[in-house]
Amino acid sequence: MRLIPLYLAAVILASSAARADDPVTPADAATLWKKRCSLCHGLDGRGPADPDKADKIADLTSKAWQKAHTDAQIFTVIADGVPKTHMRAYRSKLTEDELKALVAHIRTLGK
Ligand code: HEC
Repeated sequence: MRLIPLYLAAVILASSAARADDPVTPADAATLWKKRCSLCHGLDGRGPADPDKADKIADLTSKAWQKAHTDAQIFTVIADGVPKTHMRAYRSKLTEDELKALVAHIRTLGK
């Protein structure tokens, strides 16, 4: 009987350790983008399907936009959000590796 809580603790520890060590693959980033970002940015990054949306969302696929933003700037926007817009801060919701993988994903949208 006493072993059950111990067993559960071991399983929980093991699974969170595995998660922290697993590299975030481009496929993971694509899934994150689909789940967390595509609602507002579109699956392809061109922006929302509804042009009447209150906020103006840049076309992340445009060459001009890609050129005008460094990886560090994109990372900061995703991590800290844009105040007073619907762009939330994701620093507390995603790991640093996931944030970096999303920056890389956004770069692939421009190609
Ligand atoms: C609820 C809607 C919404 C969601 C969900 C959302 N965004 Fe945004 N995002 C916005 C808006 C609105 C802006 C424009 C903010 C502004 O006016 O500068 C923006 C801006 C950005 C920008 C900067 C664009 C620029 O021109 O500087 C990046 C990069 C970005 N989002 C990435 C993401 C990523 C990655 C995710 C998912 C983790 C995400 N967004 C989720 C609404 C959203």
